[in-house]
Amino acid sequence: MTQNKEYRTPEINATGKNAFSKPLEDLTPSENRKFILGKNLFHGTSNDSRSLESRGIGPLYNAISCGQCHINGGTSNPDSSPSFNVKTYNSNSPTKTDPYYGAQINSNSTTNYFKEAKIKILADGKFQLTDLALGEFHENTFTYPRISQKVIGQGLIEAIPDSFFIAKSDPQDKNKDGISGKIAYAYNIENKTEEIARFGTKATEVSVRSQTLKALFEDIGISNSLFGTGECSEPINCTLTPEATMQQEDYLVFYTRTIAPPRQKKQSKRAKDGQQIFNSIGCSSCHTPSIRLEKTDLVKNDYTYIHPYSDFLLHSMGQDLADPGTIDTRGADEFKTAPLWGLGLSKDVNGSLNLLHDGRAKTISQAIYLHGGEGLASRTNYQKLSNKDKKAIIAYLNTL
Ligand code: HEC
Ligand code: HEC
Repeated sequence: MTQNKEYRTPEINATGKNAFSKPLEDLTPSENRKFILGKNLFHGTSNDSRSLESRGIGPLYNAISCGQCHINGGTSNPDSSPSFNVKTYNSNSPTKTDPYYGAQINSNSTTNYFKEAKIKILADGKFQLTDLALGEFHENTFTYPRISQKVIGQGLIEAIPDSFFIAKSDPQDKNKDGISGKIAYAYNIENKTEEIARFGTKATEVSVRSQTLKALFEDIGISNSLFGTGECSEPINCTLTPEATMQQEDYLVFYTRTIAPPRQKKQSKRAKDGQQIFNSIGCSSCHTPSIRLEKTDLVKNDYTYIHPYSDFLLHSMGQDLADPGTIDTRGADEFKTAPLWGLGLSKDVNGSLNLLHDGRAKTISQAIYLHGGEGLASRTNYQKLSNKDKKAIIAYLNTL
């Protein structure tokens, strides 16, 4: 880690169940107010007695607030609905989603509509759909599972310079280390350009704003300025004019951008050993420990660093983790390196540990044992470690 007198990090000391819902420390008083208003929207106010419809929710939806899936800002237990999402992909349809069911299976509905299906979660990230309200999917559709991911440091991830991705990616594996790393691009519907995508388990969204407003529409059924009024990925939920106000959008996006990431905990001797092993067996080739940010509205100082333990690139992770098919330009088994910051706090925040894109790993070592493809060599190195060294790595990961 580069340490000089100018070095700074926006990471904060955080513990316990609220560790993923604290603001960045340098917000102004009016920004702090925006943070709180956004937080109320994210978590849904339990004393809101208005009907779901009058809040714009539905008619089809999965959850009535972001926080129902991102419990306390983290993941949630996929065994308890609604956090387990079943999404659809159809390369033939204009929206690339199933023409009848839309982007995902909505397992809830307001009074006058049918829930699209019941989702039963089986072992190993597999699931079963029953009671399909609209009959079979289109013949070219496939479905695939996702769980909610933790929401910390999102606005700081936006401040990672494009030059980082360009320097780090190695799609042809020219340096022959067995790890390629591909930049994920996606279309920015606001700027109308292709940009580097950083958000989502396959890095499909370019900004916190697009990720947030897509979720608002597809997960909750509230149309907004970016999703749900024109070309429509959830046909039944489309409206002529946006249901969310510009102010609600701004608060929600601001909150989602300004949740502070936690600072690494103080390390025991064992965790320090673990850190060395983590680096020496190749984990840090993808789980990048430190990234320097560029200045943005949220990053006011030069030499600002974050420690997300991700390169935010796509890697082939092998058949065990693969989706049923290719999604746009992303191979079936390609996933964005999962950021490991906050890993040691996740259980306190969520009450359980739910790892990987579909939540199938319940412990850190299970998640490591599922690494294939480009991750196979470092997993094999891990498997060969003594029990003492394995424990040291886990102790280290629990300080993140
Ligand atoms: C029905 C459950 C559900 C709801 C409700 C939900 N999300 Fe998510 N969220 C997910 C899933 C699943 C993913 C992973 C999506 C993917 O891989 O493309 C995700 C990913 C994200 C990410 C990207 C995290 C990362 O690591 O890249 C952000 C940010 C996010 N959600 C914010 C929100 C906000 C803001 C709301 C409310 C407007 C919301 N979510 C509502 C399930 C949900
Ligand atoms: C080739 C790149 C690569 C290497 C090398 C790699 N990982 Fe990963 N790691 C990933 C990707 C990609 C994911 C997400 C996979 C998914 O969601 O299915 C991930 C997920 C994880 C997770 C789950 C995190 C979460 O929040 O779900 C843990 C823990 C983890 N890796 C630890 C390690 C350790 C320890 C090593 C070294 C033994 C390692 N990884 C090596 C790419 C890599």
